[in-house]
Amino acid sequence: MDVIEAMDTCTAMRYLKEDPIPKADIERLLYAATRASSPGNSQGWQFVVIDDADVKQDIGVSVAEAMAPIFANKPEGMDGVAERMYLGAEHLAKNFAKVPTWILGGSRKLYPPNAPEDVFMHSTIYPAGQNLIVAARSMNIGTCFTTFHRVAEPMIRKLCNIPQDVHLCLFVAVGYPERKFMPVKRQPMENVVHWNSF
Ligand SMILES: Cc1cc2nc3c(=O)[nH]c(=O)nc-3n(C[C@H](O)[C@H](O)[C@H](O)COP(=O)(O)O)c2cc1C
Repeated sequence: MDVIEAMDTCTAMRYLKEDPIPKADIERLLYAATRASSPGNSQGWQFVVIDDADVKQDIGVSVAEAMAPIFANKPEGMDGVAERMYLGAEHLAKNFAKVPTWILGGSRKLYPPNAPEDVFMHSTIYPAGQNLIVAARSMNIGTCFTTFHRVAEPMIRKLCNIPQDVHLCLFVAVGYPERKFMPVKRQPMENVVHWNSF
C-alpha cells in the first residue's frame, strides 16, 4: 500500500477483534516506530508490549473505573460524529482486556543533554507512534491512540515494572479491525496551510 494511502485511511479503530496479532507483526510495527526521527537522534523512547491476559485484565479494571464518571457525564448536544467517537472510546475502555495487544510508549527526559526538557520527551515519542499506526494500517491492522495511561498509571507502573525515569506518553490499542478503515476527515488544507505568509 502506498504510504499516503495508508495515512489517508488510518482511522482510529476502537472496535477490534480479539484474534491475536502474530508476534512478528508486532515486532514489525515496533521496527517502524523506531525508524522515526527524534531530536538529535536521542531516541529516548521505550515501548512495552502488553498482551498478557492477567495484566490486561488488571489495567482494564483501572481504566474502566477511572473512565466511568467521564462516560456517565457525556456532554449534551454532541453531533453524530462526536457521539460516535465518544461511544467508540467508551467501548474501547470497557473492552480493554479484549484488545489483543496494547503498546505503551514511554520516553526518557534526555534532550538536550545539557538541560533536558519535558517537551522533547513528547516530541520524541509521537513521531514513533505515528510511524507505528501508519505501518499498522499498511498491514491491515487497526490501532487507536489513547490516553488511558494517564488514568491507570500506578497500576501500569506496578504491573509492567516501568522505571521511574521513563515517562508514560502514549498507549495504543492494536488489533484486527472489526469495522472498515475509512478516509480520515480533516479540515481543508487551505484552512491550515500558509505559503510564506499566514
Ligand atoms: C494524543 C492523542 C490522544 C488520543 N486519545 C484517545 C483516547 O483516549 N481515546 C480514543 O478513543 N481516541 C483517542 N485518540 C484518537 C483521536 O480521537 C482520533 O484520532 C481523532 O478523533 C481523529 O479520528 P480519526 O483518526 O479516526 O480520523 C487520540 C489521538 C491522539 C493523537
